[in-house]
Amino acid sequence: MCSNMSSVATMKRKVLPPHLEVNGGHSLNGILKVSGAKNSSLVLMAAALLTKETVLINNVPQLTDIEVMSEILRNLGAKITKNSNSLEINSNCIHNAELPYQLVHSLRASFFCIGPLLARLGAAKIPLPGGCNIGARPIDEHINGLKALGAEVEIHNDLVKAQISAKNKRLRGANINLKYPSVGATETILMASCLALGKTTISNAAREPEIQDLAKMLNSMGAKVSGAGTSRITITGVEALKGTFHSVIPDRIEAGTFLIAAAITRSSLLVGPLIPSHLSAVISKLQECGCLISHHGNHYLKIIPTEISGVDITTSPFPGFPTDLQAPFMSLMTTAKGSSKIKEKVFEKRMQHVIELKKMGACIYLEKNTAYIKGVKKLIGSTVEGGDLRSSAAIVLACLSAKGESIITGLEHLDRGYERLEEKLTNVGSCISRKYDQLTSHHSFSSKAINKDNINTQKNAA
Ligand code: EPZ
Repeated sequence: MCSNMSSVATMKRKVLPPHLEVNGGHSLNGILKVSGAKNSSLVLMAAALLTKETVLINNVPQLTDIEVMSEILRNLGAKITKNSNSLEINSNCIHNAELPYQLVHSLRASFFCIGPLLARLGAAKIPLPGGCNIGARPIDEHINGLKALGAEVEIHNDLVKAQISAKNKRLRGANINLKYPSVGATETILMASCLALGKTTISNAAREPEIQDLAKMLNSMGAKVSGAGTSRITITGVEALKGTFHSVIPDRIEAGTFLIAAAITRSSLLVGPLIPSHLSAVISKLQECGCLISHHGNHYLKIIPTEISGVDITTSPFPGFPTDLQAPFMSLMTTAKGSSKIKEKVFEKRMQHVIELKKMGACIYLEKNTAYIKGVKKLIGSTVEGGDLRSSAAIVLACLSAKGESIITGLEHLDRGYERLEEKLTNVGSCISRKYDQLTSHHSFSSKAINKDNINTQKNAA
């Protein structure tokens, strides 16, 4: 049973930003439910701009990223109605081909609108999305792809201006070879070329399941896309696309996070709905380190952890080990038997969780983007802060397994990608709750978190 968190010793009263209080060390039991994929939903919302008719998207997770993307589409003139996990989008009246900086800056995925806006309106002005907590996030492959399709693109004062010079205001098909199998660039080119004149091929295309999900919806709108999911995609342009109904695939990253939650708490759990083939690399690494994983019906996996031993992972594009599960998997390795090595090869700054895990007693040596981990018996509950979406998830998993109580701040990152996370974890027996009020605790918490909140409090008060 959860200990009474208010029994925690009282020290000076301090204001903390919204935070999670976790009482770790409990084993879990039951089913961890997986929502629709965030990274699919965001690009499908942008794809709805390609038609004047209504697009109905189902199984959309309720996340802050989805809310911001909805705001962005409304800003362009689209009409959106949300009904729990469904979105109805009509872009017949889009009039504005320009996105404001503050919206783009708050959600990099808004850059996905450039291809559809160009294809629909013949022009687009979108601020450079810029870097984020995990890396520089360049968009050169997006730009090169659009130029190959006949767009004139210039970047001036951090604003990307694109237009079609051809009199017929239509992009024209091209053979495009990506330097790197970029997910976003593949999606931008895929959407833009659907309405282009003629045929487009994308070589060295990204093979992620979200690309297949996008192609499936585009084809249901009348597009002619083949080869999605392989490294060579072919698109034959059409005059116009029609409305459709589409259901988003399950979120493979949330599903992987939940499988790791079972492993790190040494609990037998059911996880789903999910598509096992979207998680092959993760499933095999979990099996390699000591988890028994079996199919339960078509869309659920049962995971039974035995003794967890250290294994090495290197992240790579799909079907390799996904970079979005590198941080959660590292949490698991901190209490594995023996040592492990984790190499991050996709993004250059994706190790923010290391410092927080070390605060909890993890034994990790970081050399550039390679972490060398030596398993310890137990992590110790602490006050820790999430620095980006997936690092935050890794910290939650570590706190679930740690001995004692933890405070987790930085929830603005977590809420971008995990729908109702503490509710789902509580349903399987975790002692985790979200607090908004003052904290009386023997924990000392990071001054950064307090200062940030205090500044916000003053600002709001002003
Ligand atoms: C998508 O980002 C996902 N985001 C990311 O998920 C995910 O980590 C990533 O794909 C890799 O799987 C969404 O789908 C909204 P990339 P994206 O273009 O499209 C380089 C999460 O946590 N690159 O495949 O930005 C780039 O620097 C987020 O849910 C170029 O060099 O990923 C990076 O090193 C984080 N030039 C690598 O490719 C370009 O023009 C992978 O980027 C584009 C990318």
